[in-house]
Amino acid sequence: MAKVVISMKANSLKIFKQVAGKGILFILSFILWSPFVFAQRGHFLLEKNWKFIKEDVPQAHTIEYKDKDWETVRIPHDWAIFGPFDRAHDLQQVAVTQNGERVATVKTGRTGGLPYMGVGWYRTSFDMVDFRDDTQTVNLVFDGAMSEARVYVNGQEVCFWPYGYNTFHCDVTDVLNKDGKNNILAVRLENKPQSSRWYPGAGLYRNVHVIRTSNVHVPIWGTYITTPHVSEDYASVRLRTEIAGKEKDIRIVTEIRDAQDRLVTRKDNRQQLSHGRPFEQNFIVDNPALWSPENPNLYTAFSRIFVGDSLVDEYATRFGIRDIKFVADKGFFLNGKQRKFQGVCNHHDLGPLGTAINEAALRRQLTLMKEMGADAIRTSHNMPAPELVKLCDEMGFMLIIENFDEWDVAKSKNGYHRFFKEWAEKDMVNMLRHFRNNPSAIMWSIGNEVPTQCRDEGYKVARFLQDICHREDPTRPVTCGMDQVSCVLNNGFAAAVEIPGFNYRTHRYEEAYQRLPQNLVLGSETASTVSSRGIYKFPIEQKADAKYNDHQSSSYDMEYCSWSNIPDEDFALAEDHEWTLGQFVWTGFDYLGEPSPYDTDAWSNHSSMFGIIDLASIPKDRYYLYKSHWNKNENTLHVLPHWNWLGHEDEVVPVFVYTSYPSAELFINGKSQGKRAKNDATLLERYRLMWMDVRYEPGEVKVVAYDEKGKAVDEKVIRTAGKPQRIELIPDRNVLTANGKDLAYVNVRVVDKDGNLCPMDNRSIHFKVTGAGRYRASANGDPTSLDLFHLPEMPLFNGQLTTIIQADDKDGEILIEATAKGVQKGRVKLTVRK
Ligand code: GAL
Repeated sequence: MAKVVISMKANSLKIFKQVAGKGILFILSFILWSPFVFAQRGHFLLEKNWKFIKEDVPQAHTIEYKDKDWETVRIPHDWAIFGPFDRAHDLQQVAVTQNGERVATVKTGRTGGLPYMGVGWYRTSFDMVDFRDDTQTVNLVFDGAMSEARVYVNGQEVCFWPYGYNTFHCDVTDVLNKDGKNNILAVRLENKPQSSRWYPGAGLYRNVHVIRTSNVHVPIWGTYITTPHVSEDYASVRLRTEIAGKEKDIRIVTEIRDAQDRLVTRKDNRQQLSHGRPFEQNFIVDNPALWSPENPNLYTAFSRIFVGDSLVDEYATRFGIRDIKFVADKGFFLNGKQRKFQGVCNHHDLGPLGTAINEAALRRQLTLMKEMGADAIRTSHNMPAPELVKLCDEMGFMLIIENFDEWDVAKSKNGYHRFFKEWAEKDMVNMLRHFRNNPSAIMWSIGNEVPTQCRDEGYKVARFLQDICHREDPTRPVTCGMDQVSCVLNNGFAAAVEIPGFNYRTHRYEEAYQRLPQNLVLGSETASTVSSRGIYKFPIEQKADAKYNDHQSSSYDMEYCSWSNIPDEDFALAEDHEWTLGQFVWTGFDYLGEPSPYDTDAWSNHSSMFGIIDLASIPKDRYYLYKSHWNKNENTLHVLPHWNWLGHEDEVVPVFVYTSYPSAELFINGKSQGKRAKNDATLLERYRLMWMDVRYEPGEVKVVAYDEKGKAVDEKVIRTAGKPQRIELIPDRNVLTANGKDLAYVNVRVVDKDGNLCPMDNRSIHFKVTGAGRYRASANGDPTSLDLFHLPEMPLFNGQLTTIIQADDKDGEILIEATAKGVQKGRVKLTVRK
């Protein structure tokens, strides 16, 4: 087994400053180790040189075990994403009661049709250079391990953590080898079948950290920053620092610096710790740069901890200064301004990458969401990766951080209910302490559509969880996504939750508002409109549970599930009532599993159709509907459907325009089809411009948009594409960072000689990647496609797909070549540099 050898010798203070200077933030802790001073904080990731086997091996935890025949992997690693897809994987015979089902039926593709179930083992080894077990403490931190993780170091079990989504840590000081060398780390993971309602992923899919400190140190998540007073003139900042170890006479010097590394304020305090009370420092920040989605201003508190004259630890806590208020009848206020959440719910998987966390992939998701005008995300229905929270702080998204999909009553046969009683509080504490310094975290959610909501005493469980939130973090309110409206209004459950969150059931918002003491309603989950990118069905019908032989849904954005609705309803509710808090759309991105409405014996569907963006990260038409309403900084003018309807000449093909402009005129081959203006006659006309009687003739569709004064200000043209001629490759970025992890998302499309997208083309594309990077995965967004993501061959879906290229850790160039039968190949070069 290959070894990870880490030795960090540096002048800690110098690097401390360099890091601050780059505006880089260290949320968990600031992490350096220097043998020259007493301060001994060191941190490294265990990423490379892991061995993996997808089976249970009784002796795999022992020091002697020989794992040389196991596969070598790098983590984060998702063992199930490599497939194959199979109908038989985790076939579930179940009645999904949340969806109103009473009779159990066979659910195919519910967890993605991927082999996430079973036992897998990971092994590696690591060295702690100059380890001194009498003066040092070493912790392992797992950002998440799917699931039922049993961690062994040098043959001894050091921790067990069942919930696969949560971060946990274990103190391994006592089991390390005395010389610090060649410590054997083994992790056993087990996913029971029927443990999830969606694709959970499998394995060490998030990062594993090693953290070394001196015995007297700030423990993991050991600081808590609050801002008791926030105004434009000044903010008060309270920093509480816990200190582990026996010393009670502590001195802490804390500097608060802004994002440009300018010193804002500083305190040098000495305190006697007693009765478990943390060290407390209070600061005034004059004229604070407040945090908001539009201006995500950040500060960092850099603390140096001394015992006598000796520096024993250094710790950095990044934070933001912002004020949140929820006011009955009036809604949500951020920094004194009322606003509605323009949010999306997202699952944790990254489509073709599976659940293996990758910061570049998350950044790509958030960039697309930002351009759409979204300002909030609900981490449905589990704890997020720390990288997501960090990016939300930096890019400006408000988060509802959610914990569970199940409490004590089962939704899935082998779900979290098995652990709830013993583990709920521990899971809550880790989540709350992990993320309570992040300004993006705005609310905690204690659950999603838990069956407990309908129990007479369900409110007691809600209160138990809510109280834990308030105990650990009194600064944020608590919500819960509820779907059984009658139950929760009648049994007091909704009244017990601080901010009542409703999933769908828009027709009951008004009643909930009237009956609940909170006089506020949050759309914790909305829409669940379904669509397949580039698919249009005729005639158009606004309909629940529409199904077709091709197992797709129409992109006219009029189809939804029996429990859900079209986006327009949620727009209107947010606009028309002050007491609505806004919404979290189900979902920003398509995800693996839950292929409603094709979930009942409808293989090969195995990914969702709810996404505003498809599984390949390509926006569906719906993206522009949300953008037209949400993004106030940029105009939107989007036309649908495509204009290649060979064989449908002279048939009715309605044209929709999603636009931020109030009115527009449609021309087909130069002939006006009339003007349309948004109006209140119907809900649809309020948010969409529609020409319902257009007859198809090949050629040109032109839309001219008018402003409020009736002046033509913008136009958009789409044309019938001719014969497919060539492959076009459009990367989202041309320069990647040489860190072995950075990603480019390349839009791959077949176009005609004039560059028009051929919207019916489904030919297979083959990829060759050479140079300073490698082919990582492709996806086409087709929920029925069984093509494996990691193989360098993928059919287009309606003319497009996405291929993902990963940078090496050395400077150079990557050449991507895409070939297919019958069309000219596409090539593109990317630069990779440090
Ligand atoms: C909700 C549920 C989500 C997802 C969604 C699909 O009821 O909370 O997890 O299943 O329905 O519409």
